[in-house]
Amino acid sequence: MDFEQIRHLEQLPEEELAERILKIRKEQGKNVCLLAHLYQRKKITELADFVGDSYGLSKSAAQFEGGKYIVFAGVRFMAESARILARPEQEVLHPDPEAGCPMADMASLPQVLQAWDFLKIGKKTTPITYMNSTADIKAFCGENEGTICTSSNALKTFEWAFKKSDRVFFLPDEHLGRNTALKFGISPEDIAIWDPEKENGVDPESYGDAKVVLWRGYCPVHMKFTVRDIDHVRKFYPKAKIIVHPECTSDVVERADYVGSTDFIRTYVAKETKPGDQIFIGTEVNLIQNLSAQYPDRLISKLHRSLCLTMYQINLGRILYTLENLDTFERVEIPASVQYHAKVALERMLSLQG
Ligand code: 13P
Ligand code: SF4
Repeated sequence: MDFEQIRHLEQLPEEELAERILKIRKEQGKNVCLLAHLYQRKKITELADFVGDSYGLSKSAAQFEGGKYIVFAGVRFMAESARILARPEQEVLHPDPEAGCPMADMASLPQVLQAWDFLKIGKKTTPITYMNSTADIKAFCGENEGTICTSSNALKTFEWAFKKSDRVFFLPDEHLGRNTALKFGISPEDIAIWDPEKENGVDPESYGDAKVVLWRGYCPVHMKFTVRDIDHVRKFYPKAKIIVHPECTSDVVERADYVGSTDFIRTYVAKETKPGDQIFIGTEVNLIQNLSAQYPDRLISKLHRSLCLTMYQINLGRILYTLENLDTFERVEIPASVQYHAKVALERMLSLQG
């Protein structure tokens, strides 16, 4: 990768970059499929073939007619998921291979295996990983009769897991795990935490009886929202609706009007609101800004400003560099056995959709 050239491109005016990107897109036609996650800036989403949540985008790329090169404007685990779901002849390119999701990177395979050695003894335990995890954690779940979930189908995976086992080991997001467990009817006393920073988690005594063990991982973006932010909106905008992502802490989730994935938030604004409505949203700021630009006749505002820094690492300069170097740009590659077991876990998740 020529970092001098990338730095040079990153300095150019956005209009020029967008023009050059469009020109290559035109030349390449169906060969290129540009995906943009809902947290990307408007200048990027405007140029994409598909804009959506992480799982939906990977599915769209795999079904895209052509799409020899899938360019994923998102974080690393998303590009990896696209690789897992892509057809063998497709190639996946991530404009900034260093842009990882901090939450996904909070669970490494050696740490998870250490926890698993401890947890698999005694109660029959099913591992469930959130889509925001590395490919080898997805593969670990596939290999150990577990599955993957998104923020919209997490409850379904709990129902499935408890039909065949006595305990769920949920990773890497403690908060999505707790919010789902509580919704499923598990009482807070039956939930334990595994802290990978401590030897044998936190409190080895608590694991014996726990029905759910949560990995201590979190999203720094969604941890920013607090009960104070909600109280503030309720006081000054009593008619407003508050909608948050389930990666927020359970006290925030409890007080919100609605809770759902990025796609749920987008669909809610599109289908359930009307001109004049006031909506405050607890998720990444670019999704909120994009929705606000799309619906200028409603007040669509953030609960608190919160930016995902690694999503922001993807910019027009890097996308242009990727497109100008399609033949040589580094590919997202996943070892065959990881790919196989991660796909098993993903297919298990799909079979639960009903
Ligand atoms: P989605 O799976 O809804 O796209 O969310 C990904 C994410 O990173 C949320 O913070
Ligand atoms: Fe990861 Fe949070 Fe950024 Fe989503 S918003 S990519 S979970 S750090």
